[in-house]
Amino acid sequence: MALPKAELHLHIEGTLEPELAFALAERNGVSLPYAGTEDLRTAYLFSDLQSFLDLYYALMAVLRTADDFTELADAYLTRAAAQGVRHAEIFFDPQAHTARGVPIGTVIEGLAHALDRGEERHGVSTQLIMCFLRDEPAESAMETLDAAKPYLHHIAGVGLDSAEAGHPPAGFREVYAAAESLGLRKVAHAGEEGPPAYIWEALDILGVERIDHGLRALEDPELVARLVRDAVPLTVCPLSNVRLRAVDTLEDHPLRAMMDAGLLVTVNSDDPAYFGGYVGDTFHAVREALALSQEQLRELARNSFRASFLDHDELRRERYLAEVDSYDFDAAG
Ligand code: ADE
Ligand code: ZN
Repeated sequence: MALPKAELHLHIEGTLEPELAFALAERNGVSLPYAGTEDLRTAYLFSDLQSFLDLYYALMAVLRTADDFTELADAYLTRAAAQGVRHAEIFFDPQAHTARGVPIGTVIEGLAHALDRGEERHGVSTQLIMCFLRDEPAESAMETLDAAKPYLHHIAGVGLDSAEAGHPPAGFREVYAAAESLGLRKVAHAGEEGPPAYIWEALDILGVERIDHGLRALEDPELVARLVRDAVPLTVCPLSNVRLRAVDTLEDHPLRAMMDAGLLVTVNSDDPAYFGGYVGDTFHAVREALALSQEQLRELARNSFRASFLDHDELRRERYLAEVDSYDFDAAG
């Protein structure tokens, strides 16, 4: 049995495995410019965030119907459950689909169909977080929020993703204020490639409750002190940081330094189909590369539930935390 954990930084489109991409391409009559799954995998050599995003958005062409989104989410839940995930807060990028003519309702209802059965089928509770693309205009984000209004019962919060450099959080002040007034939780990617100033803006201008990535916070001791003081969770994605060259190797990853600084860090997979592993694989990889102790792994798992948006269901959070506390690493092997 795997260590119980929550996954808080996972783009559902980033779980599109080559095999499913080709199956959907065939079903939907979409032609992909790759000879097959192995040929596609050879394209997974990224030099930075943008080089990944180019492929990530291009492959989304195969996602067209509600069933496609259901299948994608169901495949993720199957894999996540096998790696100990008990709760997942899942990002999706509506603008990447509406721009291709796929209605937002198709996307949300397709995903929700799988997620609503997540608990019964896979033992995984879920929430959905709608991300705005920060390299698109803020007006488009506002239109997206408006278009999502009939489906808000499926959505727990909003996030901000895509190309970070040159696209600071401040531009999204109004749409985040509107999201808050609709009762949505708020998170944002910041400090993945962008400077510490973007993390300050996400906190102080957007009012986010969690920072996605937050790696570059370490460059600013005052910011670290603020994040520690307020126990702001950072959803760190070590395999992603290596593949997108934010850090050279996993051995160089500052995860341990972040924990030692008193930051509330969690470990996540980001886009597991592209970055070489799901969240359980990521735990194993950091354990090896950074020589983390069992108690440090347990702390990361505890953090994941502490940082989750389970405030409406504290009993469930307590149950998950109790599972972490009683987890026997030695029995698990
Ligand atoms: N969209 C999917 N993965 C992302 C990442 N790591 N950073 C920003 N946007 C993303
Ligand atoms: Zn991400």
